[in-house]
Amino acid sequence: MPVCIIILIILRTDMGYFRENIEKTVGYTPGFQPKAADVVKLNTNENPYPPSPEVIQALTNIDPEKLRRYPQPTGDDFRQAAAQVLSIAPDNIMCTNGGDDMLTIAIRSFCDPLRPLAYPTPTYSLYPVLANIQNAPVAEVPFSNNYELPEKLTNVGAALTIVCNPNAPSATYISKDKLAQLAGNLEGVLLIDEAYVDFAEDNCISLINDFDNVIILRSMSKGYSLAGIRFGFAIACKSLIDGMMKVKDSYNTDAVAVEAATQAIKDQAYFKENVEKVKADRKILTEKLRALGFVVPDSSANFVLAQNPKADEIYNKLAEKNIYVRYFKNLPGLGDKLRITVGTTRQNQALIDALKEILSE
Ligand SMILES: Cc1ncc(COP(=O)(O)O)c(C=O)c1O
Repeated sequence: MPVCIIILIILRTDMGYFRENIEKTVGYTPGFQPKAADVVKLNTNENPYPPSPEVIQALTNIDPEKLRRYPQPTGDDFRQAAAQVLSIAPDNIMCTNGGDDMLTIAIRSFCDPLRPLAYPTPTYSLYPVLANIQNAPVAEVPFSNNYELPEKLTNVGAALTIVCNPNAPSATYISKDKLAQLAGNLEGVLLIDEAYVDFAEDNCISLINDFDNVIILRSMSKGYSLAGIRFGFAIACKSLIDGMMKVKDSYNTDAVAVEAATQAIKDQAYFKENVEKVKADRKILTEKLRALGFVVPDSSANFVLAQNPKADEIYNKLAEKNIYVRYFKNLPGLGDKLRITVGTTRQNQALIDALKEILSE
């Protein structure tokens, strides 16, 4: 047997089945999904209200023929409906299997071992996991203390820069002007993750008209109450959308999800009412947390980041009372903070009552 084949066999048996970077990757840990119904679940930023009745009706009446056939490969019914609502062209939209699928497609499209990913931290902890899977280097650039965009982001040589806006978990918002400036200064692509933008006062869609390197990520999980069906989308100039279409799975959005998402985005009256309720409760929740001594930045999302030196203890005591919030114990800068989803008025009050009890012990 030739020597090189023997060496290869020895190397392979030594390496295991997975690529080296997969072996090394610590996978993403999604928020806890308790099975019991009688819990106050404020840990994964779901919308506390149901989706539009139009969605429920469409799902109840779904044509079995739609299930027998493969779905539209590019979710065109949704693209038409969303284009009308957002005043853009269907060609500027790519449908995805949730916002997370959009992130996967972008990282597969633009990153490789010589094309790094960059993002300000702390932020959505899925970004480095996806980069590791793609074997792409990561440049993490810390936000300033008040979550302003770090200047250094422009000179790390990234092929793809992701800015989560509103940012998770800080819930803070960076203005469109600042992101336009960043897009102009970058050599690579800027992906603005707007998963939570439905709860903010502005958004960056118009940047796609001025920059051929800007992609906006949107999710139907938050403002439209559809986390269970998995639907998101990208908004960008046609050439970026066309390129990413080559990377996505052929049928990445299923017929049921396309139908539900289309009905949801068409029902703007319901959507706006739903978002306004969450925003009103966010204001009350923020005030009550501050009154209890938590430091809480103004939120532009459907959650708040509440700082307290006893975060670890509070998190465990809340869980004992069946109240679940999110605690990123091991992420830098987050050990003294809890991320709390805005729930219904009653859920938020249950949280505040429990916190009062815990803090007075
Ligand atoms: C910042 C951020 N981006 C994207 C997503 C993806 O959302 P989804 O896949 O539910 O559309 C999430 C989900 O929580 C998120 O927090």
